[in-house]
Amino acid sequence: MNDTASRGQWSSRFGFILAAAGSAIGLGNIWRFPYTAGQNGGGAFVLVYLFFVAAIGIPVLLAELSVGRATRRNPVGAYRTLAPRSRWPWLGAVGVACGFGILSFYSVVAGWTLGYGYYAVSGRFADGIDSAASGAIFNSLVASPLWPALLCAVFLLLTALVVRGGVSSGIERASKILMPVFFVLLLLLAIRSLTLEGAGDGLRFFFHVDFSALVADPGVIGSALGQALFSLSLGMGAMITYGSYLPKDENVPVSAASVAFSDTAIAIVAGLMIFPALAHAGVDPQAGPGLVFVAMPTIFGAMPAGTIFGIVFYVLLAIAALTSTISLLEVIVSYFVDERGWTREKAVWIISAICFVIAVPSALSLGASSFFSNLPAGGFLGLMDLIFGKYGLTIGAFGICVFVGWFWGVPKALAEIESSGHRLPAAPLWSFLVRWVCPVAVLLIFGLVVTGRANW
Ligand code: TRP
Repeated sequence: MNDTASRGQWSSRFGFILAAAGSAIGLGNIWRFPYTAGQNGGGAFVLVYLFFVAAIGIPVLLAELSVGRATRRNPVGAYRTLAPRSRWPWLGAVGVACGFGILSFYSVVAGWTLGYGYYAVSGRFADGIDSAASGAIFNSLVASPLWPALLCAVFLLLTALVVRGGVSSGIERASKILMPVFFVLLLLLAIRSLTLEGAGDGLRFFFHVDFSALVADPGVIGSALGQALFSLSLGMGAMITYGSYLPKDENVPVSAASVAFSDTAIAIVAGLMIFPALAHAGVDPQAGPGLVFVAMPTIFGAMPAGTIFGIVFYVLLAIAALTSTISLLEVIVSYFVDERGWTREKAVWIISAICFVIAVPSALSLGASSFFSNLPAGGFLGLMDLIFGKYGLTIGAFGICVFVGWFWGVPKALAEIESSGHRLPAAPLWSFLVRWVCPVAVLLIFGLVVTGRANW
């Protein structure tokens, strides 16, 4: 086993917040959140989502960070340290498996952003295309037997190059460059979008509070919670891992709140960027998963400075995705480094190669190839998302709540959170939430997703 010095740690609280916010802010915010909100009642969904971030997301985030910082280990080693000779380490192993599973399909979608960046640069959207033409471009990209896999490989390579550099000189340094660029680009795009003619209609759609969709279908509420967990990178130990690199004198409550706040704020700003642009071009905001890849390209030709808007938009998506794939890879790498004694270098290359092999079926499954034709609409990619991104994460989130709330115990977790001398405000409330509210809520969404009613 490696000691703290050779595992590395964040060089500053700011560095940790940027890296953890980078993990949290991803395709989940810019791709999934807007289309899920768009399909599920706009403003009402957003309100429920905000409530879940506060009531479930932040408590679970604190639980993961406390376990990570107390043990300074990857998820498997963390459970093993706090609960030796028990079955708890298996929960960590589920997390590591989710790392492989999620990284494999996430990097495929991330690869599409590179492809679209290229299309935008080469002026493919400049003269204006209608939605049929845009759909055809998307289909020809995802159905190609070569490009989705190649772009995914490029994305995994970029991820590996960062993670290879280690915690502070790889991940933290990359986050300190990428996240500020991301914020500036997002702000530029949001301003461009909000100043377009017709922007008001988009805002009205995004913020229009209509609870009827929620009342008619409780699955929507489950989707809001599932989306909140995914967006905050919870349930597989990513925050155990990132928390394990936190110096002992860091203020954990403030760090956790900053990460949750920035992730949520970015999701909202992403909505402010996307819906006004769609309204301007008269595009249906309920387009579903095709929103950023099919609906958005149709508006670049229709707006002033659309080509630049398009390029910046896909660069933005790629950056958001990269800081997230970094955290997914880091969870797996930390396991092999801590528990198996591999060097970081060896772990990074072997794991990335394995992830690529697992990613190939996802990359190729959305095409017309008959091999996958009996799968549902999302293809193998959708199946991986269901197993690891939905089942896996809910199991992991339920487990960490039970572990911290009932097994390791709130007093010890609280002592760890407050060990730097910074009090956790409303600690009794946190205790009540992790012990009772979070596990029950997560169990409910597990039921909803298993019965096919929640879908985020
Ligand atoms: N939170 C990221 C997003 O919103 C995805 C992500 C990165 C993730 N690491 C994770 C999700 C760990 C769950 C667990 O896109």
